[in-house]
Amino acid sequence: MKAANPIGVFDSGVGGLSVLQAIRRALPGEHLLYVADSAYAPYGDKSQQFIEARSIAISQFLVSQNVKAIVVACNTATGAAVTTLRSKFAVPIIAMEPAVKPATANTQSGVIGILATSRTLASDNFVRLFARHGTNVEILGQACPGLVEQVEAGDLSGNTTRLLLERYVRPLLEQGADTLVLGCTHYPFLAPLIQEIAGSKVAVIDSAAAVARELRRRLEADHLLADSARIGTEYFWTSGTLEKAQALVAQLWQVDVEVCVLPSH
Ligand code: DGL
Repeated sequence: MKAANPIGVFDSGVGGLSVLQAIRRALPGEHLLYVADSAYAPYGDKSQQFIEARSIAISQFLVSQNVKAIVVACNTATGAAVTTLRSKFAVPIIAMEPAVKPATANTQSGVIGILATSRTLASDNFVRLFARHGTNVEILGQACPGLVEQVEAGDLSGNTTRLLLERYVRPLLEQGADTLVLGCTHYPFLAPLIQEIAGSKVAVIDSAAAVARELRRRLEADHLLADSARIGTEYFWTSGTLEKAQALVAQLWQVDVEVCVLPSH
């Protein structure tokens, strides 16, 4: 494996772009390949077998592009497929972990709320995370059906999005949560609205920067970091509609980019 090779990143859709942004900040010299599996988003209401099969197919594609590492920029795919991916692929697989640990360190009220998909909240990984950190603080899991669809539609601040968020965030605040964890990579794009609803005293945290740090640590340990003087590039693929993906990636990545069709999906 060569340090000059790219890093592969994927998500059920465009949510993983929040992780891609953190990776770009942490590793400016790396070439990044991003796959949005938008034809099949949301993963949250699919079976574990389906998500696993999609994660394997996308990882195979990324490996065919000579990636030196894969970042599973999706909490739901992490819960459903990370163990299988690690057993099937030789490249390092870096995955998501909701920021429960920093949240337990941050809370003053002793109550933290976690916004995630129902599949993530029910996953073994998550149940273990709950058990590990839930002894001294109260952890409230809140499933958020509909939010991934709003981000996939590019609606980050409209009425429907606001009403959904109010419905999910208010009960957590009423139960005393002073720290909210964004346990789905789509949600950081809704962070300004979440912060507005929760108020400035509530901390809203996600794990994108921590995942980027972990990726850097892993590449460094394996002597796979690209020359930091290089200017990194990004390439995008989607299994969804091209025009939609193009507009959405431009909106969220804030640069006009070319998106390609994911081959044979
Ligand atoms: N971004 C994915 C996650 O982190 C969204 C899940 C979904 O597609 O339902 O969970």
